[in-house]
Amino acid sequence: MKAEILTLLRERRDYVSGQELCERFGVSRTAVWKAIGQLKKEGYDIEAIRNKGYCLRPEEEVFGQHELESRMNTRWAGRPVLFHRELSSTNLQAKLDAENGAAQGTLLVADKQTAGRGRRGRTWSSPEGTNAYFTLILKPEFHVELASMITLVMGIAVADGIRETCQAQAYIKWPNDIVINGKKVCGMLAEMSVERDYIHYVVMGVGINVGLQEFPPEITNMATCLEAECGYKVSRATLIANVMSKFEAYYEIFRKEGSLKGLQERYNSLLINQGREVRVLAPKAEFQGVSRGINEAGELLVELEDGTVTEVYAGEVSVRGLYGYV
Ligand code: BTN
Repeated sequence: MKAEILTLLRERRDYVSGQELCERFGVSRTAVWKAIGQLKKEGYDIEAIRNKGYCLRPEEEVFGQHELESRMNTRWAGRPVLFHRELSSTNLQAKLDAENGAAQGTLLVADKQTAGRGRRGRTWSSPEGTNAYFTLILKPEFHVELASMITLVMGIAVADGIRETCQAQAYIKWPNDIVINGKKVCGMLAEMSVERDYIHYVVMGVGINVGLQEFPPEITNMATCLEAECGYKVSRATLIANVMSKFEAYYEIFRKEGSLKGLQERYNSLLINQGREVRVLAPKAEFQGVSRGINEAGELLVELEDGTVTEVYAGEVSVRGLYGYV
C-alpha cells in the first residue's frame, strides 16, 4: 500500500484526504496514518494538515523499495522488485534467489555493491548513493542458443530507457556497452545456469553510472555518468522502471520471433559502430573492417577490405574504433 500511496500523492501534487486514502485502499485511518509515518521515516517529506490531508513535497529522491515499486509500470519485468541497501553483487544474489525458486521477472536492486562484477573477471566499481545496479531474473523456455541474445535485448532497453529518462543520446557499442558522447555509461553482465539444452535461469545484470562522480585516472576519458551528460539530477528509480518497461516489450518480441529479427532495425539504429571502421580483437586474430550492424542472431557483420562480410560472435571478442574506445 505504501508504494500506491506514494504514486497517488505524487500524481495529485496536492493534498489527498485521509478519508480518500482509506476508501481507496479499504483500510482504517490508523493504517493510513501508520503507512504515512513509515514513509516519512524512510525520508519522504509528507506534510499532514488537519482537514486537508497529506501532501508529498517534491525533493531529492528517496531511493528504496517503495520508490522503486511506485515507479514500476510493467506486467512482469521488475515484479517483484527486491531492494537491498548493500549486496556483494546483485548478480550473485540473483543466482541464489533463482536457485531458491525466485520467479521470472524478479528484479534485484542494490544501492551499493561490495563486490560488483564486470565482464572478463573484472570488478565493477559500485559506490553507494549514486548509481544503478540491478539484475533481472529470467527463466526462459527457449533453446539455449538464444540465451546470448538476451544481453542485446537489454542493450536496446537500456539505451531507450536512458533516452526516455533524461534525453541523453545513448548508443550501443556492440555487443552491450552503452555509450554517450563516446564514453561508457553502462555495462551489462549476463550469467546463466544451463543443463544440456535446458536453461535453468539467466541473470541479466546492469550497472549504469548515474550521479556525478570521479572516475579513476586510467578510465576517465572512457567513462561517464548520466548527470554529467545531461546536466541535471536523474531519478534512479524512474530510470530502472523505464528500462524494465522497455525490456518487457522488447523481450516479448524477441521471445515470439525466436530471434532478433524484430529488433534488428532498432538495435542497428542505436549502434554507435554502425558504418564505422572497427578493429576486431579476438583471442587468436585481429582484423579491421567496416561495421554493418547485427544479423538476426546478434552477430556483428564486419565488411572486410575485399568486400566479403564476416560474422563476429560476441564471446571473447572485443570491438574497438580505430582511434579509441568507440
Ligand atoms: C562490464 O564489465 O561492462 C559489465 C558490468 C556489469 C555490472 C553490473 S552492476 C549490477 C550487476 N551486478 C554485478 O555484480 N555486475 C552487474
